[in-house]
Formats: sequence, C-alpha cells, structure tokens
Amino acid sequence: MKLLKDKVMSEGIVLSDQVLKVDSFLNHQMDPVLMKEVGAEFTRRFAGEQITKVLTIESSGIAPAIMTALELGVPMIFARKHKSLTLKDNILVEKVYSFTKKESNEITVSKKFLNSDDRVLIIDDFLANGEAAFGLARIVEQVGASVVGIGIVIEKSFQPGAGLLNEAGYRVESLVRIASLEDGAVSFVDEVTM
Ligand code: G4P
Ligand code: NA
Ligand code: NA
Repeated sequence: MKLLKDKVMSEGIVLSDQVLKVDSFLNHQMDPVLMKEVGAEFTRRFAGEQITKVLTIESSGIAPAIMTALELGVPMIFARKHKSLTLKDNILVEKVYSFTKKESNEITVSKKFLNSDDRVLIIDDFLANGEAAFGLARIVEQVGASVVGIGIVIEKSFQPGAGLLNEAGYRVESLVRIASLEDGAVSFVDEVTM
C-alpha cells in the first residue's frame, strides 16, 4: 500500500534493529484519512469472505479495525488487556506472551459478542512474533467461529510472526512488510509491481 509506505518512510523513526516508532500516525496521534484507506484496502483484500465481525486488541488495533468494520458494515470488537469491572463472567480468556515486555497477559472478550456462526477478520497494527494474533485466533476458535484471515498494518517480516501464522494455516494480509530496520533504515520486502 503506497500511501502507507510513504508515511512509514517520511514519519517512521527507527529506534533499533527491532523497533519502528510510528507515533505520529498509528500508535499515539492517529491519521484518520490514512486509517480510512487502510480500512478500504483490507476490505478489498478480504472481499467475498462474508466477514461478520472484525476483532482486534486494544489500543492501537482499534483505529484500523474500526475503519475496516465501517467499510465492511459489520461490528468491531476489541479484546481487552486489563480486567474490566463490568466484564467478569461469561468471558473468553487467552494468555498472550509479549517478548518485548517479557510478560504474559490475559486478553478477554465477552462471550456475548462472538458465536459459532461468526466469520471473523482479525486486525492489528503491528505483527512481530505473532503472539497477539495467535491469542485472538484462539479466542475466535474457543467459540467454534472461523478466522477468515489476519490483516496487519505493519508486518516486521524479519520477525517470526508472519511465517508462524502462515504455517498454522492463517491467511495473513499485511499492508506494508518490513524486511529490515538495520543501520537505522527501513527496507521493505520487495514486491512485484504491476
Ligand atoms: P506480537 O504480538 O507480534 O508477538 O508482538 P509483541 O508482543 O512483540 O508486541 C508488544 C507490543 O509492541 C504491541 O503493542 C505491538 O503492537 C508493539 N510492537 C511490536 N513491534 C513494534 C514496533 O516495531 N513498533 C511499534 N511501534 N510497536 C511494536 P501493545 O503493547 O499491545 O500496544 P498498543 O496496541 O496499546 O499500542
Ligand atoms: Na502497538
Ligand atoms: Na496492537
């Protein structure tokens, strides 16, 4: 997705060989026009999949997920990372390990909002090790619903998540794929241009 690549090139800050800072349009300040385009692009890529729900995880997944859900005309659900006062019973829970933070956290979704007939598109802002995406997929599968695919805004292809999700049989669509952040520069996975 050219618009997104341009944005990564002009505003992304390489913090280390592993981490790209994009707080001017995705992780802190958010660019609604770009997020609208992101939603339209995921909708094109997953056309014909009869998606009934979009599922993400708070907080940075919410913007791309809501724009996708708006475009698809379906509800969006975000998994919570922190226990909610009002969300105690009838919840779906999965453990998600963060390599970045070296800790395990429980993510939760109310059983009310997912059922076995659902065809769910999972959306997230970043894909690194794939732990969040796998956790969301397990939540969908707990209720016997289908994971149609996983839409990622920025994939770090040099980390194992995308490969592991593909091996597990999930369709992963990433709008930009980063091959390397070495030497302070972003290089993208080569794409065939037509
Ligand atoms: P994983 O789910 O793919 O295994 O990723 P990991 O545990 O490593 O990610 C932990 C957090 O760090 C996630 O956000 C993820 O989006 C974010 N993250 C991972 N790599 C990068 C990166 O290169 N740049 C940026 N900006 N973020 C990255 P989170 O803690 O859940 O935060 P948020 O969704 O509330 O923003
Ligand atoms: Na994030
Ligand atoms: Na996220």
